[in-house]
Amino acid sequence: MIEPRHIQDYNDAASLEPHWGYADRVVPCTNDAGSCEYLDVVYHSHDLGMLYSGILWSVIIGGLLVWGIWNRSHSSSRLTKTITSSIRRRFLPDTKSKFGRYFFGRTTKLQILLLVCITIYLTIFSFIGIRYKTWITPVKKMPGVYNRRSSIGPLADRVGILAYALTPLSILLGSRESLLSVVTGLPYQNFNFLHRWLGHIILLQSLLHTILWLVVELRFYQPQPKVAKEWIVQPYIIWGVVAMILLLILWVLSTSWSRKKCGYEFFRKAHYLLAILYIVACWLHWKQLQCFMLPSLLLWILDRSIRLIRTWLIHYKVLPNGKGGLFEPIQAKLTYHDSDILRLDFDNPNTTTYEIGQHFYICFLKGSIWQSHPFTPLNLPNDSHGYLIRAKKGETKKIMDFNSDLTTPIILTGPYGVDIMKDLEIEDNVLCIAGGTGITFVLPILLHLSKFGLTKGRLIELVWVIRHEKDTEWIKSELEQLRKDENISITIKITRELKVSNSNNNSTISGSSTPMPISKNFDTLQMSGNQKEEIKEKLQNGDIVPISSYSNINNNNNITGEDSGCPCKPPVYTAGSSSSSSSEYKENNQIYDAEKAIEQGVEPHHRPDLRLSVKEFVQKTINGPTCVYVSGPGGMVSDVRDEVALCNDAKKVWNGEEKAEVRLIYDDRLE
Ligand SMILES: Cc1cc2nc3c(=O)[nH]c(=O)nc-3n(C[C@H](O)[C@H](O)[C@H](O)COP(=O)(O)OP(=O)(O)OC[C@H]3O[C@@H](n4cnc5c(N)ncnc54)[C@H](O)[C@@H]3O)c2cc1C
Ligand SMILES: NC(=O)c1ccc[n+]([C@@H]2O[C@H](COP(=O)([O-])OP(=O)(O)OC[C@H]3O[C@@H](n4cnc5c(N)ncnc54)[C@H](OP(=O)(O)O)[C@@H]3O)[C@@H](O)[C@H]2O)c1
Repeated sequence: MIEPRHIQDYNDAASLEPHWGYADRVVPCTNDAGSCEYLDVVYHSHDLGMLYSGILWSVIIGGLLVWGIWNRSHSSSRLTKTITSSIRRRFLPDTKSKFGRYFFGRTTKLQILLLVCITIYLTIFSFIGIRYKTWITPVKKMPGVYNRRSSIGPLADRVGILAYALTPLSILLGSRESLLSVVTGLPYQNFNFLHRWLGHIILLQSLLHTILWLVVELRFYQPQPKVAKEWIVQPYIIWGVVAMILLLILWVLSTSWSRKKCGYEFFRKAHYLLAILYIVACWLHWKQLQCFMLPSLLLWILDRSIRLIRTWLIHYKVLPNGKGGLFEPIQAKLTYHDSDILRLDFDNPNTTTYEIGQHFYICFLKGSIWQSHPFTPLNLPNDSHGYLIRAKKGETKKIMDFNSDLTTPIILTGPYGVDIMKDLEIEDNVLCIAGGTGITFVLPILLHLSKFGLTKGRLIELVWVIRHEKDTEWIKSELEQLRKDENISITIKITRELKVSNSNNNSTISGSSTPMPISKNFDTLQMSGNQKEEIKEKLQNGDIVPISSYSNINNNNNITGEDSGCPCKPPVYTAGSSSSSSSEYKENNQIYDAEKAIEQGVEPHHRPDLRLSVKEFVQKTINGPTCVYVSGPGGMVSDVRDEVALCNDAKKVWNGEEKAEVRLIYDDRLE
């Protein structure tokens, strides 16, 4: 005997009509007239739901194919340049409205537009093609008892189908071993925004599906509570409830609140595990839709397996007898700079190849074998690996605490991300902008151009914003290498080495008669001996020497503080010696920490106007388009993005003015 399901009795069936993704239909219909009409709506709406999902996937696959072909064709016709320039101008900046920032963060308008299109598509196709009606139908063998059948059921199913159809897309968008990156050439991090929002959409759809069916089964179908009790104990409903609970936990753990509370690594591991359990539960809830769950499962397994294989390949060691076997961790050399910066160096393991712009995940065995974090090599591929790590609060802080160790064992996985130099043409001018440790993203580009003699005939500049001048020590040898190339202009902007004047009345910290804080190592300044002496003498006399005195000392090596446009005291370096910490100074017998004061907002920031840097650079170019690379704090990337968008002018590009074509390659973080 076959269980009666979906209000049909299969034992009465003369024949069955298959419907992809749903239970077969009993034909001819053996129910009452109202229920048969209701079943017509159910099956028609379901078939349309499958069709709309098919259209959605056809558009996605077709769009990706076109994108892939475009990406590989390296089309550089005037028309494509004009179109891309116009898209950049309109859609590159992130949203500036308070509402937009709150919901979307620093995301380009292009990503938001894509999300809006998906949302509109899903909203329309959730509701159309359903005949909205209510049927009051008799309950078999219960005279006077009636069921209320309505289009709520087909609507709930339609939303459920779309949620299932979006699941493989969500996995694709969230994978690190990203097929989407292979096709589009975009880094996997760029898809994270849509992955997150698709998660919100799937949650809403699943909630709607669940709530609507609860209303139907707990209120509309009679007699109650008999119907509800029989309904909830069916295995497919139990699995539906399990899937809903898993999805809710998945969603709660993904909010920035719980990511902060439980730690990023817990979120990541839990996310992987809950995602696979959710897929299995969905499969068991509605086996007929395994066409969506099978690819989701395969994509998940593929992502995890490739990761394991790649890690093994890096660490696989050939034994002296010629056979392979050992999985050997890498010993990395540690160099500590300040309290929160660490440089990690080690030889290229198993001659691992990677492209400029790619990053690796590093697991510090002395920290936790369950964690690995992404870091970007600052060297050229095929050289030894060098990494700069800014300690945060989790694993990276633990690593800083190894500070008596000279080396540490690590496991490397990767590379991930994409080649950021593949589209750089020989005539492109290059502007690299970096903030702090973001230098690792742009440094290999300059090293590559310099090493292979590609710097001649184009304008190349590095603008590096750092907190302290001594931060240049992080990459001392690499900077020296770059400085040898007279075609590369290097501007270093310092933001936290300020001191206020003791004699200047516009100082908000006044009354001190002592020279101000000592946060500058004079010997590392790029200037001639005479200039150095002159400035030193002035400072020792208690004079104020504005930062601008240090600017433009060398034609291609500028170390500057930023004093333009600052509403506060301009940063001023003072000399002298002190046993106190670099940023501390005495004021009215009290110790002040300039750095802390800036961080806490007591002292204003002294950040350079990077929009101006971009604008001036583009104005300086004589011929050729410009490619801007940026990596640094979010605000910095946003500023550069806005200015790059403004520098693009489709009309001028169409008229052959190369200067008006400015591309941007930015480091897109998951933070
Ligand atoms: C593609 C990429 C390249 C990076 N390159 C560098 C680099 O060269 N140098 C550098 O100093 N930092 C780099 N980072 C940032 C670095 O990975 C994080 O600062 C580090 O993982 C923080 O670890 P934690 O446990 O101390 O973090 P926590 O203090 O626990 O968290 C701080 C923040 O770091 C982020 N984070 C934590 N763990 C991860 C993770 N496994 N994956 C992604 N983000 C995480 C989260 O957004 C979190 O909010 C890079 C990040 C990405 C995504
Ligand atoms: N993909 C990569 O390769 C990679 C690698 C490492 C880091 N990063 C990115 O780089 C970021 C920087 O890391 P960090 O902690 O080393 O940086 P940081 O020290 O906090 O900032 C670097 C410098 O940038 C200045 N700054 C901040 N916002 C600015 C703005 N809008 N305009 C001009 N200057 C600005 C800061 O000034 P103040 O002193 O006033 O704060 C500081 O001097 C990280 O958030 C990370 O996302 C990327």
